[in-house]
Amino acid sequence: PLIRLEEYRPSDYLIDRVDLDIRLDPHATRIDATLTLRPNPAGVPAAPLTLDGDDLRLVSAELDGAPLAPDAYAATPSGFILRDPPPRPFALRLVTEVDPTANTKLMGLYRSNGVYCTQCEADGFRRITYFLDRPDVLAVYTTRIEADRTEAPVLLGNGNPVEAGDAGPGRHYALWHDPHPKPAYLFALVGGRLGKVETPFNTMEGRTVSCAVYVEPGKEDRAGYALDAVIRSMAWDETAFGRAYDLDVFNVVAVSDFNMGAMENKGLNIFNDKYVLASPETATDGDYAAIEAIIAHEYFHNWSGNRVTCRDWFQLCLKEGLTVFRDQEFSSDMRSRPVHRIAEVRSLRARQFPEDAGPLRHPVRPRAYAEINNFYTATVYDKGAEIVRMLRTLIGPEAFRAGMDRYFADNDGRAATVEDFLAAFAAVTGRDLDAFARWYERPGTPRLAITAAYDPAAARYTLRFAQSLPGTADSDETPLVIPVALGLVGATGPLTGATCPDVRDGVYVLDRPEAAIVFDAVAEEPVPSLLRDFSAPVKLDLGLTDAQRMRLLAQDSDPFNRWQAAQDVALRLILDPDADRTEAFAAALGRFLDGEALADPAFAALVLALPSEGEAADAVPAEVDPDAIHRGRSDLRTRLGQVLRPRLEAIDAALVPDAGVPYSPDAASAGRRSLRNAALDLIAAGNPRTGAARAAERLAEATNMTDRLAALGTLALIPGETREVALAEFATRYADEPLVLDKWFAIQAQIPEPGTLDRIARLQEHPAFTMTNPNRVRALIGSFAFGNPTQFARPDGSGFARVADTVAALDSTNPQVAARLLTAFGSWRRLEKSRGAKAVEMLNGIKAIPGLSRDTADILARTLGDG
Ligand code: ARG
Ligand code: ZN
Repeated sequence: PLIRLEEYRPSDYLIDRVDLDIRLDPHATRIDATLTLRPNPAGVPAAPLTLDGDDLRLVSAELDGAPLAPDAYAATPSGFILRDPPPRPFALRLVTEVDPTANTKLMGLYRSNGVYCTQCEADGFRRITYFLDRPDVLAVYTTRIEADRTEAPVLLGNGNPVEAGDAGPGRHYALWHDPHPKPAYLFALVGGRLGKVETPFNTMEGRTVSCAVYVEPGKEDRAGYALDAVIRSMAWDETAFGRAYDLDVFNVVAVSDFNMGAMENKGLNIFNDKYVLASPETATDGDYAAIEAIIAHEYFHNWSGNRVTCRDWFQLCLKEGLTVFRDQEFSSDMRSRPVHRIAEVRSLRARQFPEDAGPLRHPVRPRAYAEINNFYTATVYDKGAEIVRMLRTLIGPEAFRAGMDRYFADNDGRAATVEDFLAAFAAVTGRDLDAFARWYERPGTPRLAITAAYDPAAARYTLRFAQSLPGTADSDETPLVIPVALGLVGATGPLTGATCPDVRDGVYVLDRPEAAIVFDAVAEEPVPSLLRDFSAPVKLDLGLTDAQRMRLLAQDSDPFNRWQAAQDVALRLILDPDADRTEAFAAALGRFLDGEALADPAFAALVLALPSEGEAADAVPAEVDPDAIHRGRSDLRTRLGQVLRPRLEAIDAALVPDAGVPYSPDAASAGRRSLRNAALDLIAAGNPRTGAARAAERLAEATNMTDRLAALGTLALIPGETREVALAEFATRYADEPLVLDKWFAIQAQIPEPGTLDRIARLQEHPAFTMTNPNRVRALIGSFAFGNPTQFARPDGSGFARVADTVAALDSTNPQVAARLLTAFGSWRRLEKSRGAKAVEMLNGIKAIPGLSRDTADILARTLGDG
């Protein structure tokens, strides 16, 4: 059954207050909930009251202090109906009992490593008590949590702590009150043995906030970076958006079993421990960057998501796209802006473009869903962020900030829509944003075809644009509004003096299906630099020659397009190998490295990183052969490694870390490590035998996880004894570090060799592997499905089978993780026919399993094209 956007109607009842008394117990946790309800003036009066439930057991029910007669209500695991609710405010007291230990779905109240915790977004609160579990029902919560003192010395809730104390022999309690009305998906509690690090933050409004990060006892020394990121996020949101924190405490808790990355519960963010715990010995530079970004993301939700929440789940991008945009801006300010932009686009192309090109494509604001948890997608998050970024490009940074202020002011304490968001910007700019709003409705990645003509006699340069949306016919009548940041590049640098009335502040706005713009006073034939800084999430068709692209790499003032130019040449060489062009490309890269590799190592490392096999597959129109792509890419790497060897050696020598200088995760240090490790990797690609020895040496001398893992990754691509010894040593060294073993699982799962399937079978038997921990499953099986295209799509179907078996095994215990894994099959239609047929065979195998979860059944139906 599909839920549709146009069927939205307000709730018949509202809940103003929720008073909870929760007695934690491993198998029989009691939830005593008193809901203060009233008929919604905007609803249907005197309708029966229907509360949501999921797997619930009702213990008792009272209305206004008196037990309800059995015929006055009906309670099932999935709902509670009050037949004749009073036509006035009333109090409904419901007691339920749940078993947190048996909760393997990790939705609602569950235990992770003995710690009681919750996950309520999107619809987990109904697994705790019966409720109007929809984001437009906002209530003020007061929560009393009671537990065994030794089992759960720490008791955390939403809002501010009110009091705490004894609760009988061996028991204690804590009382929390959250003054900010919120939807149920933002409810959270935590109870357990936890260590913490804490520090105060003084807000610009004069409030002193006690900030703390809670982790497994003994791991406090790994929580410092996350706490520092909290403080920096709070300060940044004040400066960048004028948003201050609004409670006396802000708590972050790391748990080891978590379905997603983290959750923005009011005042009590709960995190996958992978995005909190970091030490130089266990975390890479990439992990530090991800921790910083996700801490910021969840904190920024306090305004974009919590203070202003969503009217319904169709508006998910309202909080997610906006909050991703905000965390991207934060990371750009903390690090190198161009380098971060390239990282954002790489991830958009790796995850969102394929989604938009496959059977799971959907608008940034979906119109219908069967299971909302399947819509926490790259499209909603990352394309959603790109829409916000385009809006800022269109109206300019000052108007954008004014619009954001207006949005927060007008919608504070409300459950808003995408229309409310756009209305704030329309109000401050006086602009009509209706055409721009089509970005929220149109699935698919638009194509932008561009042709250029130069008239030397008239010193005139013309650019013609044509937009299209593959899979649709209507872009002619209703084109998208595409901001195209651009410039012209001459033989020795950016062209000055050229004028074009249609370009303002370096941006041309294409709002028609086709258009042409003319530059005058163009003294020489330029190379166009289009879509600078990736100003719109589109695919560009622009037939530049390699030589023109190399001019952009050398001369463009836009770092993004310099990087893009090298990517474009490499992509063509992967798909269509050519010896002469490869030599010319290597020479151009050599000049680039000589000139500036050491001036901006992080940027240089990105230029050396070739497009992934997935990205190359995305550029093939049909009948994708992953083996051919793999061959094309590794041959190119081999040749580049050989030709560039002297330069790579020089880089390697120049970037030897200074002995005695302790590891620091800052962007500049990370950039030096990434270039040095990229150099080693290419050297090894050019000469595997010396490469293996060098990587083994590097592994032995590494003083941090970044260098150690990079060396192991290089070694993993070179079959032989050295590799196997290194892998075994790594496992021994980190036997007690599950998050580090995840990296070890992931590296092995991605080895592009036929033996990998057997290796995975062995690793599934490894004592550290368990199907009950989502991180483990994603590290081993997820890395294989999403990161090993040749072996996942093996012609004999055995790669697909491995993933399908995992989905089948996981579906009954954790459907969310199972469904997410299943999305790896989304590319089947574009594969070469016999592989595609094998994929369908596996999908049909899953389909035949009785009692499939709604999560998995939904992905399956849409992937097969019958959903
Ligand atoms: N709102 C969270 C975030 O973006 C994601 C939680 C999604 N959880 C889920 N079960 N769908 O940070
Ligand atoms: Zn989010």
